[in-house]
Order: sequence, then C-alpha cells, then structure tokens
Amino acid sequence: MKIYLKKKIIATLVLGIVLFIGSFLLILSIANKNKNYAVEETIDDILNTNDEHMNMFNNDENINVDFDRTNPINNKEDANIDNENVNYSNEIQYDEEAEERESELYLCNENLKMLKDKLNSTMRENTKKENLMENFAYKYLSTDIVFNNFVDIRNRAELHTMLWRKIYGDGPYTSATPDINDVILNPGSLTGDKKLLAILHKKLYPWLYEKFKSPSSLLRSFKGKGIVICTGSYHFRFARSTVDTLRNVIKTKLPIEIMYVGLSDLSEEHRKELESYENVFCTDVTQFFDNDIIFISGFAVKPFAALASRFEEVILIDADATYIHDPAEWFEDEEYKKTGALFFKDRTLYPGPHGGSEWIHEWMVEPSEYAKNSRFYNELSAHEIESSTVVINKSKRLLGMLLTCKFNEQKIRDRVVYQKVFGDKETYWMAFDMAKEPYSVIPHPIIYIGEINYGEDIEDKNQKQLCGHIGHTDRNGRIMFWNDHIIKDKHEPKYSNQLLRFEGWFYEDLENVEWTDTFHCANIKDDFPINEFTQEEKDIIKSILDRELEKKFVLNAGTSY
Ligand SMILES: *[C@@H]1O[C@H](CO)[C@@H](O)[C@H](O)[C@H]1NC(C)=O
Ligand SMILES: *[C@@H]1O[C@H](CO)[C@@H](O)[C@H](O)[C@H]1NC(C)=O
Ligand SMILES: *[C@@H]1O[C@H](CO)[C@@H](O)[C@H](O)[C@H]1NC(C)=O
Repeated sequence: MKIYLKKKIIATLVLGIVLFIGSFLLILSIANKNKNYAVEETIDDILNTNDEHMNMFNNDENINVDFDRTNPINNKEDANIDNENVNYSNEIQYDEEAEERESELYLCNENLKMLKDKLNSTMRENTKKENLMENFAYKYLSTDIVFNNFVDIRNRAELHTMLWRKIYGDGPYTSATPDINDVILNPGSLTGDKKLLAILHKKLYPWLYEKFKSPSSLLRSFKGKGIVICTGSYHFRFARSTVDTLRNVIKTKLPIEIMYVGLSDLSEEHRKELESYENVFCTDVTQFFDNDIIFISGFAVKPFAALASRFEEVILIDADATYIHDPAEWFEDEEYKKTGALFFKDRTLYPGPHGGSEWIHEWMVEPSEYAKNSRFYNELSAHEIESSTVVINKSKRLLGMLLTCKFNEQKIRDRVVYQKVFGDKETYWMAFDMAKEPYSVIPHPIIYIGEINYGEDIEDKNQKQLCGHIGHTDRNGRIMFWNDHIIKDKHEPKYSNQLLRFEGWFYEDLENVEWTDTFHCANIKDDFPINEFTQEEKDIIKSILDRELEKKFVLNAGTSY
C-alpha cells in the first residue's frame, strides 16, 4: 500500500515534469510553425526525452512495462474478488483499493476511447496533450487484461483493429504483407503506432506465437479451401458418417481436416479410419498455441481449430451436421465473397431481457447493422447465431478470427462468455462486431425438418407435430444441411437407434409453431403448410439413409426405418 502510494506520488511528479516540458515544447513548436512533426516522431521525442523518468516507474525496460496498476489488478484476481457474486463488503481490507482500481480502470477506458477517436480522425493535431495520452497508452496497454472487463477488452480490440489496418491495410493479409512481422519479431525497435500495436497484439493474443513464430508464419501455414470437423473418439461415429456422406454421397472435392484435442481425444485407430478416406487429414489442435492459457476443451475447440487449420478458407462444421448439397457452395455466396465470413441464425427462443443481452449492452457500442437489428441485442431472443456451420476467409478476416478465439480462451470463456451464452456459438458475431470486422448472416430463419407425427411425447394425441432437427437453407431458400445427423434423436436413448423419417420441412414461424418441452417436436396447426422435398432432395436423402443402413456407422442395433 505504501509503495503503491509512493509510486502514485512519483507518477504525479513525473506527470508534472512532463507537462512542464510539454508546454515548453508546445510553445517552441508554435513558434516554429513550419516544422510539422509527424505524430509518430513526436511520440518518440517524448519517449526519448523522458526516458529516465519513464524508467522510474518501469520495473522492466522492455515492452512489458509494469505500470503501477498491474500488481493490484493481479491481486484482485488472486484474491478472487473478481466474479459477479462477490460481496465486496466481506473483503474489507480490499475495499478501498478495489474502488480506486475501478475508477482508474474507468479513467483508462475514457483515455483509451479518446486515443482511439483521435487515431481515427483525419485531423491529427500534434499537441502535447495527445502525446502524453499516447504515452499513457503505452503504459496502460502494457498492463494485463482483466478477463471480465469487456469494456476494456473492447477498447483494446478496437484500437488493435484500427492500428492494424492503419499499418497493414485492410487486407487480405499474406506472409508478404510488408513489415507484418514487426509487431512480434522486433518489438523493442518499434516506435509510434507500431509500438502501440505490438504491445496490444501481444497482450490480446499471448498464446498465438507458439508453433507459429510470427504473423507471416501463421499466414503461410494455410492455403486453399476446406472443411474442418472437430471430433474426439466420443463423436467419432458421427464424424465418420459425415465424412462418408461428404465423400461418397455429396462427393465434395474439398479436403477435410479433422481436429482433435490431444492424442487421448481421438484414438489412433479412429484417426486411421478417418484418414482412409481420400483427402482427409487428422490434426492435433493442441500443437499450435500456448495451451496453458487457452486450455482447449469442449466447444472452445472450434474457433481454435478454424484458426489452426491448414485452409485459408474454412467451412467449420459439426461432426453431426448432415449436408445434402456440397458445402463448397458457401464459397459462392455473394455476401460471403464480399465480407469473408458467413454465419447462420439460431432459433428464436426466450424473448425478453436475458443475461446475455444485459452483458453485451455493457460493452457493445456502435454495433454493426446486423448486431443492432439482431433479436439478441433487441431482446427478442436469447439465441442469435448457431455454429454448426461457420465459414471464414482467414486472410480476409484474420482480426475477427483472432478475437473470436480470444472470447474462447479458458478464463474468459469459463468465467464470463459461457456463463452468458451457450458455448462458442454466439462468439463469432460478437467478436467480429467487437473487432469491427464485417460478416454476413444468411437472412432466412432456421428450418425445422423431419417427420410428421401426432402427439409424440405429449398428452394431446391429436396434436399435429413435426419432429426432427433444425437446419438451414442457402440464400435462395434451398436446403443445405441440418444438425444432429439422420438418427431420430441422439439425446434420447429410445430414439438414438432409429433413423428419422424425412417427410417435410418449414422455416421457423413464431405465430404457428410451438416447441414442446424437449425441443424434439414442434406443435403445428393442422393446416400449417409443410414444404415437401424436391425429387432431387428425396433422392439424396435416400442415398444417405441407405448408406447408413448398409454401413451402420451410427446405428449399432436394428432400426425402425
Ligand atoms: C454482504 O455482506 C454484508 C456484511 O457481511 C451483508 O450485510 C450483506 O447482506 C451482504 N450482501 C449480499 C448481497 O450478500
Ligand atoms: C472512425 O470515424 C468514422 C468517421 O468519423 C466513423 O464512421 C467510424 O465509426 C469510426 N470508427 C471507429 C472504430 O471509431
Ligand atoms: C478469400 O480471400 C482471398 C484473399 O483475399 C481471396 O483470394 C479469395 O478469393 C477469397 N475467397 C472468396 C471466396 O472470396
């Protein structure tokens, strides 16, 4: 506490000196109107002029400067007074500092916002005040990210995008993008905007440069287009069936990369089985990034798998997503070509304020057009996007891809994100929005597909229902895929050995369709129109079902089909 105060006094003194020198230089520069310093040079001037003062509150001379807020923040974490349910009044000895830190963080965010606005404005005035602020920014950005402060994360992410685009352009980025490695390889020699970016980049993505030593080695590591499927031995039977359908029924030409989480996740036998298909590769996703920070598990494997994958353009699909047309068609989608990212809507469920909407309202400022009009943001649904398929062009949308992964880092996901939303599924659009990266969403609602029943699993035996799966059409309204495979209900033991009957489908319709409690069936009115499949669709579905009946990838016993 004493040292803390002492540091504060020194910092204030330094600020005073800097301000004094600042005003002196300002007068000089006004006197010398013609000499128009570039902003970056002036920042460096300030840094050099005040180097010895800087060092007074740096414990470390390199880029990881230890601003006097760093330790208290870490203490805050260690003392475990960071989660929402904490009763601060029980932590009396921390109270005062906690409040102080809160207000400091608030000030930091305000300053950062000003800095961001300044960098974004074309009128970049060269005043000392701004230089000081930039100077302050170096210090501030060097501090650790507090995992649950999404206002702070958002400010940093926006600034990161802004600086990245200013220095490296709007993309697409390649290993040949000039100076792309500077932020990682030569941080010590950087100045001005590049130095800011280097600090930010490293703080936001401390796990990124493990296998890849630089941005260009990451960008060099992927090329072409392909499908990525995450599976361990647990979902192996679905993955094999899906790979088989894609290769032998849909006959896609796309290569397929299977991503698993360490050798114990997917057995060697299962890997061999999958790799026996043409152009299928199995990859251990834990070999790429610092897994002590991200600790890949569960849903979080998906965005990291997309990032690590050997493909530049990735169609990330669930192991049990059943496609009836070639997924490669997503690459032809007009909006995907424009934006470099394509997502799909989830069901409309649970209207009204929800934890997730309250949370994003705290940090999502200036949302994109999509986000601003989304059901989630407007509290019309607690679900917005579902991630059984996600399409991303990584060289175009590198920044969105990286930030999506950040949302799925262990601490951030476990303590914040997955508490607010279900798994990884909402993190793509939220992170793209935060990174100010464009994305597109197929505008149609989700479809419901399956068999027509009466009163299944409910009391009213006359109630007409459609029982089955949710899926998606393309932009032209043509069915592309559905989730949860071709068995009737993988979650329900009595149905998990039966194939679903594919008798019809319809788009989500809130007026006329009502889910049953289990979401296995939807109740519909007798005259509610159910779309029939085209002959082509019927033929493809029959081929997929016949193959399952022959090979028994998933059905391990008899079937009612
Ligand atoms: C927090 O702790 C104080 C004192 O121990 C107690 O009076 C108060 O009710 C607690 N608040 C909550 C929300 O638990
Ligand atoms: C940058 O400025 C432009 C024009 O003033 C504005 O439309 C845009 O939203 C700003 N971007 C950010 C990230 O603040
Ligand atoms: C993905 O991005 C790369 C780099 O811009 C580009 O060459 C490629 O055409 C893009 N793919 C699509 C389908 O837009």
